[in-house]
Amino acid sequence: MDKKFRRIGVLTSGGDAPGMNAAVRAVVRTAVAYGIECVGIRRGWQGLINSDFVVLDAASVGHILSRGGTMLYTARSEEFLSEKGRARAVATCRMLGLDAVVAIGGDGTFQGALALSKMGIPVIGIPATIDNDIGCSNYTIGFDTACNTAVDCIDRLRDTMQSHERCSVVEVMGRNAGFLALYVGIAIGATAVLVPERELNFERDVVERIRNARLAGSTHFMVVVAEGVGSAVDIGKRIHEAIGIEPRVTVLGHIQRGGSPNARDRETATRMGYFAVKALAEGRGNLIVGTRGGDMVEIPIEEALQMQKHLQMDRYQVLETMSVSAAGMATPLR
Ligand code: F6P
Repeated sequence: MDKKFRRIGVLTSGGDAPGMNAAVRAVVRTAVAYGIECVGIRRGWQGLINSDFVVLDAASVGHILSRGGTMLYTARSEEFLSEKGRARAVATCRMLGLDAVVAIGGDGTFQGALALSKMGIPVIGIPATIDNDIGCSNYTIGFDTACNTAVDCIDRLRDTMQSHERCSVVEVMGRNAGFLALYVGIAIGATAVLVPERELNFERDVVERIRNARLAGSTHFMVVVAEGVGSAVDIGKRIHEAIGIEPRVTVLGHIQRGGSPNARDRETATRMGYFAVKALAEGRGNLIVGTRGGDMVEIPIEEALQMQKHLQMDRYQVLETMSVSAAGMATPLR
């Protein structure tokens, strides 16, 4: 691509994630450093359709680095899925003189990015979702903060479960992926973790694990359920039917998406924003900026959308191995 980018748009789309603001700030400040003007598009792709924008300069992104949510608001746009909607978005780009758009979000955001790029507007994607389910990037902005929030909540639940000698069934987000659930499950020392990537065998994955924990001396049990597996309420009922105990069910819900981004998310978001604009300034577009190991990589959007990331099942093994009790009873490895 041999194109000079003079003015770019930046937007956040889909579910918000802690660190989105840090990415917006980095995009704007890097653009300023390269002499590129920046326009914030509010409410994601829908904002591009509606010409809903705000001109941004270095000062207008001050004091947002540590703030959760997104100053640009976000939305999931049905209209952008239609050709008519996208044509209106392209018209906005032409009207505002946007030579490219930086889109911060998850899978749905990047589907939109690909569609727009095919209509002649160069786009760069920055992966931001608490689900960590973007194939082309080891890491997505917001995941670490969301994990820490969930761990903090579940530690509190454990205190009361321990006092009352109860079973807690906690549902965490993640859409169709179990990254959040498994990571959090290891971090809180869960009795059992249910993820969509592993076919559920209720007797083996829940009943036997609670039973083994009880035989080993535990009187409280922590079961983490990824939302992609199904309802934690149903899992709670099935536990009651199978063993007779009455679990308390907690759905953590959107609390996992809020809060100040932690250091990892601020740092990653800042580097991603920087590399996104650097790519544009050097004449490259239609990419997603992701991480591989500790490094930033650029992957063409179309290729990036084909890439898959699999849950590391060896982590599941780690989780199961940690159920070795004080009395020395382990769940046999299988
Ligand atoms: O993709 C992020 C996410 O928080 C998922 O984990 C969850 O399934 C979904 O968004 C919830 O979406 P909404 O905010 O529209 O309820």
